Amino acid sequence: MTTTQPLLQLENLRVDIGERNVLQSVSLAIAPGSLVVLMGANGSGKSTLGLTLAGHPRYRVTGGAARLGGQDLLAMNVEERARAGLFLSFQSPPEIPGVKNNLFIRSAVNAVRAARGEAPLDAFDFLGDARAAAAQLGLPEAMLNRPVNDGFSGGERKRNELLQLALLRPRLAMLDEIDSGMDVDGVRATVDLVQRLRGQGTAFLVVSHYLQLIESLAPDTVLRLEDGRIADRGDLSLAREIARTGFARVSEPVEA
Ligand SMILES: Nc1ncnc2c1ncn2[C@@H]1O[C@H](COP(=O)(O)OP(=O)(O)O)[C@@H](O)[C@H]1O
Ligand SMILES: [Mg+2]
Repeated sequence: MTTTQPLLQLENLRVDIGERNVLQSVSLAIAPGSLVVLMGANGSGKSTLGLTLAGHPRYRVTGGAARLGGQDLLAMNVEERARAGLFLSFQSPPEIPGVKNNLFIRSAVNAVRAARGEAPLDAFDFLGDARAAAAQLGLPEAMLNRPVNDGFSGGERKRNELLQLALLRPRLAMLDEIDSGMDVDGVRATVDLVQRLRGQGTAFLVVSHYLQLIESLAPDTVLRLEDGRIADRGDLSLAREIARTGFARVSEPVEA
């Protein structure tokens, strides 16, 4: 049997926001091409974990280690992390007024292509790819010409995150509550895209409360975050148990 080196490895990661400790000691590993679901009560630190790994300056790592493909992730700046193949879809994607969506995504795609030693896409080739991806995601083509997320509905913003994912083809994609605000077609398009990218080797860390989505994604591992650490590791049965009993009662079943 061969052992694969994890794509992402976190060891006792500790994260503070300002003076406050949010993640106490998070350890986890994600193998290349695998799919891990991260669950946890509101405020348990799921978004904090994603934003920290993406390199958001507000989240201060005060202990532990994080490696992506064997490299020290914490030593890299935000751009280097993206070029190394890390992608985060925001729980609340921000508007970027004045920056046209297709130029924004093409710049990101070409930066990642340059890091992979690939030639840049010109406007024409990029637009062909972007139109095809937008059609698959049910995103009107006109949204490619608007400023990023400007006037987009909640579900459209989430689809726009998926558009970036589809075009960037990262090594590790972190999807933070991608289903929130999305209609059933959007959820179906999400599952299709995730499965297609997994087939090409992308690994996923998916944050969701939505059991139907989690079941459709067929995760390799389900994790539960509590008190700043991974409190439970399991498979789909853990997600089903949480859906049935809630977060408060998983570790301490209430006996009469
Ligand atoms: N910018 C911030 N300033 C202060 N506290 C924050 C900030 N962002 C998040 N928090 C706090 O950190 C904790 C974890 O938040 P978050 O990672 O968003 O949780 P989750 O995504 O699991 O719902 C919460 O208690 C939240 O209030
Ligand atoms: Mg969150």
